[in-house]
Amino acid sequence: MTDPVLIAMPGDEQRAERLAAELGVERIALEHRRFPDGECYLRIDAELDDLDVVLVASLDRPDPKLVPLLFAADLARDLGAGRVGLVAPYLAYMRQDRRFLPGEALTSVSFARRLSDAFDWLVTVDPHLHRYPTLDAVYSIPSEVVAAAPALADWIAGAIDRPLVIGPDEESEQWVRAVAEARGLAWRIMTKQRFGDHDVRITAPDLDGLVGHRPVLVDDILSSGATLADAARVLVAAGLPTPACAIVHGLFGDRARRTLAEAGIETLVCTDTVDAPESRIQLAAHIAPAVRRLLSSRP
Ligand code: R5P
Repeated sequence: MTDPVLIAMPGDEQRAERLAAELGVERIALEHRRFPDGECYLRIDAELDDLDVVLVASLDRPDPKLVPLLFAADLARDLGAGRVGLVAPYLAYMRQDRRFLPGEALTSVSFARRLSDAFDWLVTVDPHLHRYPTLDAVYSIPSEVVAAAPALADWIAGAIDRPLVIGPDEESEQWVRAVAEARGLAWRIMTKQRFGDHDVRITAPDLDGLVGHRPVLVDDILSSGATLADAARVLVAAGLPTPACAIVHGLFGDRARRTLAEAGIETLVCTDTVDAPESRIQLAAHIAPAVRRLLSSRP
């Protein structure tokens, strides 16, 4: 089998560089620019005959990224690529997984359909699987889900004394349990009610016997920051120190940092699935084995 090549979509160059180094494969350049009217221009100045091509594109703030990504996949095939895979460390549009009101777009399904049509396989990190049991429930192509829990657990073990891992809502239990079990740590789950994009109400867990521990909030997504901020306030009111936070995908909406600061949160790290100053936990070594498995599996 010929060696695969990696192509970074704009903004994903560093992530792709780290992944290429882990995989020991070559990166080839994608020329990308916008015409004055906003349409995109793409060029790959390389022979792709029968090569496995891996596009790297983290899909936070996905709308402006989607068209160039679909065109790039098409271009790779046009230039003779064999299979075209996608490494999307953050996979967008997973949260609208049902119609909460009649007539709402089921964007998780629409997005999955577009990507499944364009790519032969997909690797992502901890997609927000809530009401979907697995990625296969929405994606029709082979996929691998990389767990960030071991990397988050390593960070917590190295940085926090006597950690108590806490999930701010029921959905976070899957990540919290995996992080805590990786290091044999105590863990608790809070309950959350959401009243709006920036308005949540969180209830404290049973903290009996846990005084003296440093709480660490673990969640898959940080968006408005409201969940972490309210959870931090509740924990402090219950007598614990201000929590540290270890998050998989740091999306940081416009007011998120202010919201977190107002709640007194100072120690917060995310993985590097999304670019942010806080995204200090690198996942290339965790993603590479999943990519290798998909590259070596033939349909
Ligand atoms: C909820 O389903 C997720 O796991 C996160 O708790 C949520 O997306 C965080 O959002 P925000 O930062 O806007 O509260």
